[in-house]
Amino acid sequence: MSSYHVPVMAETCLELLNLRAGKVYVDATLGGGGHALAMLQRQPEISLYAFDQDPEALEQAGKILSGYTPVLIKSNFRNLRTELAYNKVKGIDGILFDLGVSSHQLDEAERGFSFDKNADLDMRMDPDQEFSALELVNTYDVQGLSRIFKDYGEENAAGRIARAIDKERLNGQIQSTSQLARIIESVVGVGSTESLKTKVRIFQAIRIAVNDELAALSYSLSDAINLLNPGGRIVVLSYHSLEDRIVKHAFRLAATACICPPAIMHCVCDHKKQLKILTTRPLMASEAEIQENTRSRSAKLRAAEKIKGEK
Ligand SMILES: C[S@@+](CC[C@H](N)C(=O)[O-])C[C@H]1O[C@@H](n2cnc3c(N)ncnc32)[C@H](O)[C@@H]1O
Repeated sequence: MSSYHVPVMAETCLELLNLRAGKVYVDATLGGGGHALAMLQRQPEISLYAFDQDPEALEQAGKILSGYTPVLIKSNFRNLRTELAYNKVKGIDGILFDLGVSSHQLDEAERGFSFDKNADLDMRMDPDQEFSALELVNTYDVQGLSRIFKDYGEENAAGRIARAIDKERLNGQIQSTSQLARIIESVVGVGSTESLKTKVRIFQAIRIAVNDELAALSYSLSDAINLLNPGGRIVVLSYHSLEDRIVKHAFRLAATACICPPAIMHCVCDHKKQLKILTTRPLMASEAEIQENTRSRSAKLRAAEKIKGEK
């Protein structure tokens, strides 16, 4: 498998996607193409539409998928419905989301995703997007920064780190990942596990905000569920609790027939049950896989099947 990115829980994804010849599938997060290749190798007779907002990922995946004919789409998966409509796809029989960034994106210093690799602050998955970490870190006020660190990083020292950034900005623009890492260390210290975890949380929070990851996910999940044909499957791999919570709630809502408040005796809502949840608890990678691929350690997999809408 390519060193670009090793696909996580690939066999479980394949089983849950229930690939059937002649049917239509979507890989919403193509990355290095590992999951897509596994899907096409397992069932070459599928139509596969694969999304990524990072052109480098599409280029890499295009190479490893060269023996097949998937449709590669350079777009944010929040545009799932319109992009598929553009390709004349009205319904799909399975969709995989493997969220977050690829190992390659993390390893590539100049993308600015990692605090331990010095680079310009960037963190855009889509290089055509204008808004970057540089703009966020240098223009958001203390309250805005603090909210991002709290909401997307669940960081206790959010306020103190936001104020330290604000103070440093008086000396000029904060340009690099190392500069930002040093500011965080000035608040939480250097060398301890807690300091390391804080840097992970703050960088993650900025990445989520720059790419508007959680809104894109919520938006796309609801479109994906609507697009699924009866019997179609949705499989989502998430890597932190914020993503997993969104997936859990989206599945639960779609698996509920009535969403009227409990005080209402007779249902007046138009809501229909659309999904049967296949994973009552999220599935995790095996110990053996975690040993082989540390990235799989935090993976949580949830899957569901579309049913005919019912009250
Ligand atoms: C974890 S990697 C996927 C790895 C892939 N499953 C494989 O086996 O190589 C996630 C990929 O999804 C892309 N991505 C993340 N969020 C996206 C979004 N909202 N729209 C489109 N692509 C997205 C990232 O650019 C990255 O390449």
